[in-house]
Amino acid sequence: MRFHVLTIFPEFFEGFKNTGIVSRAIEKGLVDINTVNIRDYATDRHRTVDDVVYGGGPGMLLKPEPIFRAYDDIARDKKPYVLITEPWGRRFDQKFATELAQKDELLIICGRYEGVDERVKSIVDEEVSIGDFILSGGEPAALVIMDAVIRLIPGVVGDSDSLRVDSFSDGLLGYPNYTRPAVFRGMEVPQVLRSGNHRLINLWRKWKQIENTLKKRPDLLEKARLSPEEEKILQAIKKGESFEDFTGNNRV
Ligand code: ADE
Repeated sequence: MRFHVLTIFPEFFEGFKNTGIVSRAIEKGLVDINTVNIRDYATDRHRTVDDVVYGGGPGMLLKPEPIFRAYDDIARDKKPYVLITEPWGRRFDQKFATELAQKDELLIICGRYEGVDERVKSIVDEEVSIGDFILSGGEPAALVIMDAVIRLIPGVVGDSDSLRVDSFSDGLLGYPNYTRPAVFRGMEVPQVLRSGNHRLINLWRKWKQIENTLKKRPDLLEKARLSPEEEKILQAIKKGESFEDFTGNNRV
């Protein structure tokens, strides 16, 4: 999968490209991240990328010309799917990331300053926001989007199970995990995880997922399509039953 990022701060992405899963995905040839400095496409002597607002108003806007010229250069070979980062865009979430992971060429325009000349929207497929807050520029948003999409590309994350159990992948939050030691500063790893009973462990994990989601993100539960077993767990949790009561009653 190929990403093109149009930005006035290409150096912002260097750490990202050279670290962890992303750098390995690039090395393996699964991902290519082409950061394009919009300034390289400015035509005047001072390489200007911004200008004042028609009709008056504070601040500066990114000019259309350098962005269009950069886009033309990229789209000449193959038209990419084009996103622009905007605080009022479509909210980025796991479903959106999954959709984007299907594309083979994605171009992200990083907004800046007070905004971007409106005519740039004529080449944009979707406006995307990473949340209801204002960033000083679109670069952190582009980075978040690329990170979430890259890990969905087949072969990028080593153990494909870890994608399957990710929070949100089944509409629920994840379950808690522990490593050694079994007791740390008086805090004990739940006995069930040390029982070797995989059926019980899976049930406990499901219970924790539903409990966590109910406590922290009840809105997700309304949208999740629960299996009959999950529905039974949810009702038990709502009634205040403990996991031990539940498994005792269900004779697991
Ligand atoms: N640009 C400024 N704020 C943003 C946000 N929350 N998401 C995406 N792009 C932005």
